[in-house]
Amino acid sequence: MNTAKVIDKLNEILKHEWTGVAQYAQQAFLVTGPWRQVFAGLFNEGAEESFKHARTIGDKIVALGGVPTIERNKIQQSRELEEMLEQALAFERAAVEHYKQAIDLCEDDRALVVLLEDILLDEQQGVDNLEKLVRQTKAAAQSKKQARHAG
Ligand SMILES: [Fe+2]
Repeated sequence: MNTAKVIDKLNEILKHEWTGVAQYAQQAFLVTGPWRQVFAGLFNEGAEESFKHARTIGDKIVALGGVPTIERNKIQQSRELEEMLEQALAFERAAVEHYKQAIDLCEDDRALVVLLEDILLDEQQGVDNLEKLVRQTKAAAQSKKQARHAG
């Protein structure tokens, strides 16, 4: 395993997770209307999950002899719930790709593979869940439109 390369990739992941902490927290702040009751909690959970992953990855970077990044990428923000969910979905899909790439780089370190696979599973569950939510909100918007036209 090329340790320097793995550390670089883990730092790229850490940067993504720090972005998740800020982006999900911002979404939890900004979501308004009756759906706030449901989605503020979901977005806060996303921020907490990103922080949990950031801690695991940061600890591993130090164990490998590296320095964890404190940088993050530009966050996506919106006041529209559907757009927020699309942004969250894009974020989780990117996370899945990052973890898959990291796993490819460290295949001879089984423990690290297991650690990353464990997080990969969280990220994939995030994608699956958000895909269902986006489908649901799109269907709801459609039927609302139809109801308006009918009236
Ligand atoms: Fe994550």
